Amino acid sequence: MSADARQTSPQKSPGKPPRKTVTVRDIRARKGATPLVCLTAYSTPMARLLDPHVDLLLVGDSVGMTVYGMETTLGVTLDMMVAHGRAVTRGAQAACTVVDLPFGSYQESPEQAFRSAARVVAETGCTAVKLEGGREMAATISFLTQRGVPVLGHVGLTPQAVNQLGGFRTQGRGAAEAERVRADADAAAEAGAFALVVEGVMEPLAREITERVAVPTIGIGASASCDGQILVIDDLLGFQGEVQPRFVKRYAELGAEVERAVGIFAEDVRARRFPDERHVFAQGAK
Ligand code: KIV
Repeated sequence: MSADARQTSPQKSPGKPPRKTVTVRDIRARKGATPLVCLTAYSTPMARLLDPHVDLLLVGDSVGMTVYGMETTLGVTLDMMVAHGRAVTRGAQAACTVVDLPFGSYQESPEQAFRSAARVVAETGCTAVKLEGGREMAATISFLTQRGVPVLGHVGLTPQAVNQLGGFRTQGRGAAEAERVRADADAAAEAGAFALVVEGVMEPLAREITERVAVPTIGIGASASCDGQILVIDDLLGFQGEVQPRFVKRYAELGAEVERAVGIFAEDVRARRFPDERHVFAQGAK
């Protein structure tokens, strides 16, 4: 399906009523209403599985850590985001699809950001892009939105600034830090972001930001008062090993399940239990 067709046609799923494509206007209209359900996705099969359940699918630059084994998101490239963005829009029927602009692809100038965003939108068919930053990115957010590119903002713990922040630390602990996060949220919202990811922010501050900005806040390690919640899909499914951040709730233990299944496969192969007659093409078999 072409990107254009995806924007206008309802979801086709046998036996289920068609679901209308979620637009950025729909997302914006959810301020103070039913919480927005948002997840990351990086592949077509996962996008297909998640799409019926979520309002928004984010192709996060967390792909660098979840899929490529990087320590941070700083090594993620625009080519990687385009490839994973394409995969996800192929699998998404109705959810609003947002692709992260990676580190170095937008911070230089609004013009550089527009070139990167235009490439991402044109080559993936996504609806919007996400970029990190508040006051320093306000001019860029308004440059993009005025030229037809919807922007999802991202304030608080901004992983692309990990070296500047001194690690993946919760933001807003002292008065000065809280004031900085508050000012960033105000600036990104006023510049035209259709919603804001609020990541790794002390709960009372995330709640206060949700009350003060006019657009929906989407929390991760933030507050239950946010207008929506997002998690990294690999964290939710239990793919990331024993150590997990406090803000993650694991709804499954698929990492352990993969180990169990692969262990049985290995035993079967070594014992010549696999393949059996059902899995081979014997002479004369149909
Ligand atoms: O890259 C990502 O997955 C994100 C989410 C954690 C919000 O930015």
